[in-house]
Amino acid sequence: MTKPLRKAVLPVAGLGTRFLPATKAMAKEMLPVVDKPLIQYAVEEARAAGIEQFCFVTGRGKTAIVEHFDIAYELERTLEERSKKAELELLRASAVEPGSIVTVRQQVPLGLGHAVWCARAFIGEDPFAVLLPDDLMLCETPCLAQLAQAYRDTGGNVVAIEEVPRERVNRYGVLDVEKDMGRLVSVKGLVEKPPVEKAPSNLTIIGRYVLMPEVIGHLARMERGAGGEVQLTDAMAKLIGRQPFHGLRYEGRRFDCGDKAGFLEAQVAFALKRADLAPAMREILQRYA
Ligand code: G1P
Repeated sequence: MTKPLRKAVLPVAGLGTRFLPATKAMAKEMLPVVDKPLIQYAVEEARAAGIEQFCFVTGRGKTAIVEHFDIAYELERTLEERSKKAELELLRASAVEPGSIVTVRQQVPLGLGHAVWCARAFIGEDPFAVLLPDDLMLCETPCLAQLAQAYRDTGGNVVAIEEVPRERVNRYGVLDVEKDMGRLVSVKGLVEKPPVEKAPSNLTIIGRYVLMPEVIGHLARMERGAGGEVQLTDAMAKLIGRQPFHGLRYEGRRFDCGDKAGFLEAQVAFALKRADLAPAMREILQRYA
């Protein structure tokens, strides 16, 4: 029996320099795709996978993220008075159980591994998910729910993976494959942002993980990796051989919303999925074809 997966860590301390000036005074995780901030997509995906406790790893200027999941009493009262039922429903959908969100501050930008290590007290002895809100997922079965199932099946660490063109592997954590079983791939090594010619495969990690708490012990050594940062990938690599470690070819699509083109494509894809917006969006796209 695997321990139930109830906790998620969401690193949200990044500066968002790629979206300046939009992110000068606003957290990049609050950028909306259609009408919902990136962080809410991530939280909803996590809840759909059975996550009940959230840890936001934040930094300066990120308070709006936490506010967003609070109850906005004045706003709700006003909407009630005006009988705006649909808007009220939308608002209530973003509230979470009281006490289910905690925040820790990262203070110094030492990398993703350091951000996850900052959540160590929250994680304790439990398995946990990591969701990077920049990676926006469009999947029939929510991506983290697919990973959670794979965790229950394999009893260990699982990361969501996809194939990318060879020349782009240097932007990601890359798998050294032990056995390719189709949807599941067992892993014998992991490399963070390798030079293209040294990459062991073109199977790359995307921002969804289910990890065992032992990874924290490896992070605690604060060894610097690619880019001089403490890399989560390097600490995960140390678990291999001691615990099951798999990549999962998830079903669905990913939009890299840390990148302007990816963010714009996400707007189009998510608008086309909406019955109220799809006809207008199609018309717009034709105008620019
Ligand atoms: C991080 C991880 C990397 C992973 C990527 C997915 O990199 O370090 O292994 O492939 O997220 O989005 P970042 O995009 O923060 O540079």
